[in-house]
Amino acid sequence: MNAAARAAAVVPAAGRGERLGGDTAKPFVMLCGRPLLQYALTALEQVPQIETVAVVVAVDAVPRAREIVRRTRLRNVTIVTGGPDRQASVKRGLDALPPGPGLILVHDGARPLLSPALASAVLAAAERDGAATAALPVSETVKRGEDGWVRETLDRGSLHRIQTPQAFKRALLLRAHDAAMQEGFRGTDDAILVERLGERVRLVAGDPSNLKVTVPDDLALAEALLARRDAHTRPPRVGIGFDAHRFGPGGRLVLGGVEIPFTKGLLGHSDADVVVHAVMDALLGAAGCGDIGRHFPPTDSAYRGARSLDLLVRVCDLLAGQGWRPAYVDVVVMAEAPHLAPHVSRMQAAMSPVLGLATGSINIKATTLEGMGPIGREEGIAAQAVATLEAVPVSANGGR
Ligand code: CTP
Ligand code: MG
Repeated sequence: MNAAARAAAVVPAAGRGERLGGDTAKPFVMLCGRPLLQYALTALEQVPQIETVAVVVAVDAVPRAREIVRRTRLRNVTIVTGGPDRQASVKRGLDALPPGPGLILVHDGARPLLSPALASAVLAAAERDGAATAALPVSETVKRGEDGWVRETLDRGSLHRIQTPQAFKRALLLRAHDAAMQEGFRGTDDAILVERLGERVRLVAGDPSNLKVTVPDDLALAEALLARRDAHTRPPRVGIGFDAHRFGPGGRLVLGGVEIPFTKGLLGHSDADVVVHAVMDALLGAAGCGDIGRHFPPTDSAYRGARSLDLLVRVCDLLAGQGWRPAYVDVVVMAEAPHLAPHVSRMQAAMSPVLGLATGSINIKATTLEGMGPIGREEGIAAQAVATLEAVPVSANGGR
């Protein structure tokens, strides 16, 4: 990587967190089991251009910050103590950086949802244009007020909400901080210091979920966003299901969502489709959601005569709501008769659109019990299923 594209990062996290309140200093408030500050550092660790990081924290927070850095894979981290305001803290971070990288990225430790892609995009813009900031369009009408009265309605079209990361050519940022210091100017971000030099700052499309944890309500929001973001990193799950129904007078034989011509039918509250029932229980089991009896109680008349395939749709919706989708289903049907092999491809085709799986990912096989036991005596049919679930990537979440 050429010197101009190599980057260092400064992470200001030395504020007092007054608006958040509480007993724990803001960088160490726990979010989904990890301290807030750890998230920004973990994101920076995945930005290939960044080779060194200065983390700026309050004096009494240095040991805890060191512990957090140890939990990341970041190398070349310097921990420095902050100043009386954000600008002073960033300056201390800048002063602590080793020479070398030509770009500096500044990102608030209070923004845990930084994506490495956004950091890279802002760095690339700064490499091209000298200075860049993540920014979002303003979706609400903005008015300037004074003494409780509207003074002016601003042109929303040209307004932006500014986030970090911001990135700059190193010499430019150092010059901007020095000039501001000499003039006694205090700014709430670094871009303003560059703007005051008369230099242009490029706007880069920010990320609406890259929120700054500021007030207590932001904690719940950040937790929800982190949980959604990390959902697809969950390992796959496997579940098992079993069902059996007895033959009886007048029933139809429905297996795997298709009617199969036979002299007998299965008795049941719904259509007695043991294949779909076993699959539903396997799916619910893998998602940790109990069983079909819990979701579709036989005592509830709403499910009398229900098509099991319709219930399977509801199971899949329930899974999607929890961030899961079926990845593979394997079924064994235990039936002395009828001979089921000729009907397997129809069953796969019927379940395929509901499960959102290719027919090749729905394996159905049948076996007899060689005359043994009630199934062997043709008193009924049973089915067993194993289902694998995979976590849904964030972009596809809820996409059913
Ligand atoms: N910051 C800093 N040094 C300061 C003040 C702020 O490093 N003297 C950092 C904060 O830790 C935070 C970022 O700048 O990561 C943005 O500041 P803000 O969200 O305002 O956090 P706090 O200043 O900690 O919160 P508050 O203003 O509510 O006290
Ligand atoms: Mg502050």
